[in-house]
Amino acid sequence: MVDLSVEICGMKCSSPVAMASGNAGYGIEYQSVSGFSNQDVGAVFLKGTTLEPKLGNKPERVMESASGLLNSIGLQNPGAHEVINRYLPKLDLSQSQFIINVSGSSIEEYAEVVRLFDQTDLPAMEINISCPNVKKGGAAFGNDPEMAARVVEACRANTSKPLIVKLSPNQTDIAEGARRVIDAGADALSAINTLMGMQIDAHTRKPTLGNNQGGLSGPAIKPVALLKVHQVYQVAKQHNIPIIGLGGITSAEDAIEFFLAGASMVAIGTAVAKDPLLVKKVNKGIMAYMKQHGYQTIAEMTGLLELNTDTVLCG
Ligand SMILES: Cc1cc2nc3c(=O)[nH]c(=O)nc-3n(C[C@H](O)[C@H](O)[C@H](O)COP(=O)(O)O)c2cc1C
Repeated sequence: MVDLSVEICGMKCSSPVAMASGNAGYGIEYQSVSGFSNQDVGAVFLKGTTLEPKLGNKPERVMESASGLLNSIGLQNPGAHEVINRYLPKLDLSQSQFIINVSGSSIEEYAEVVRLFDQTDLPAMEINISCPNVKKGGAAFGNDPEMAARVVEACRANTSKPLIVKLSPNQTDIAEGARRVIDAGADALSAINTLMGMQIDAHTRKPTLGNNQGGLSGPAIKPVALLKVHQVYQVAKQHNIPIIGLGGITSAEDAIEFFLAGASMVAIGTAVAKDPLLVKKVNKGIMAYMKQHGYQTIAEMTGLLELNTDTVLCG
């Protein structure tokens, strides 16, 4: 018997496939799409939420690039109080695991948003440490292991709910970053967030994004994401910390590659915008693969990657 359900930090998820933050709104928007149900989705990571409302960056905020999407939304969101009072009451919490994505521009802001959501019925929180640290000139918290650890420590002090820390691929050593946030109190890790990039219009000689730079997502980043998940897994497995793998997933086969690299669950962002019913299709494909290869649970596949031996480190 094939069992698609996974347990992450005590949360029972009916599918190993989640919707990634920033691509699932506040869990209610997709419900108006014919054939879509949150019940098919193992977890819904809600949009990045700050303490105060944010209008986000100036346009253009989303551009296509080869096999990818470049975005600089700038964390547009209605603020934590509005999310709690207006959006959360509309969610049917029996349908999926809805996880808030906590964002901030100071350690104090992260801690306060966590304190507010600690008082809600949401089962867990994802900490988006890829946000700019205003006090440090806008460098992302997640690219500095020390700052990342301090954010997680402050969040940990304000909740006993599971904390899933979302790792930035833009840091020098993601395994070291993972180790530091685990020591600081992370219960799970998600990897990866977007890779910073730029697109230039040769005719205007200007960047196409209003913010000049943005985060690259979609199939273009999948090979990077797989390597990062593999590297993070080497640390996470020593602490029994599960990984939610993401970055460029568009099919069941992509998802399975992430399980083999070390993920216990996966999430899909960009590809869901193209096909809102994708999670259902990926569930089906994973099920078929498990039957074909004789696996009964996702856990059996996690980290099964067999590395080639006699390799050199570069190239
Ligand atoms: C339009 C857009 C908005 C996003 N907003 C957030 C966000 O608010 N918080 C966050 O942690 N990640 C955010 N992300 C990153 C995604 O959750 C995900 O980590 C990344 O896109 C890689 O997955 P994908 O290639 O499947 O999209 C956003 C991505 C996109 C494309």
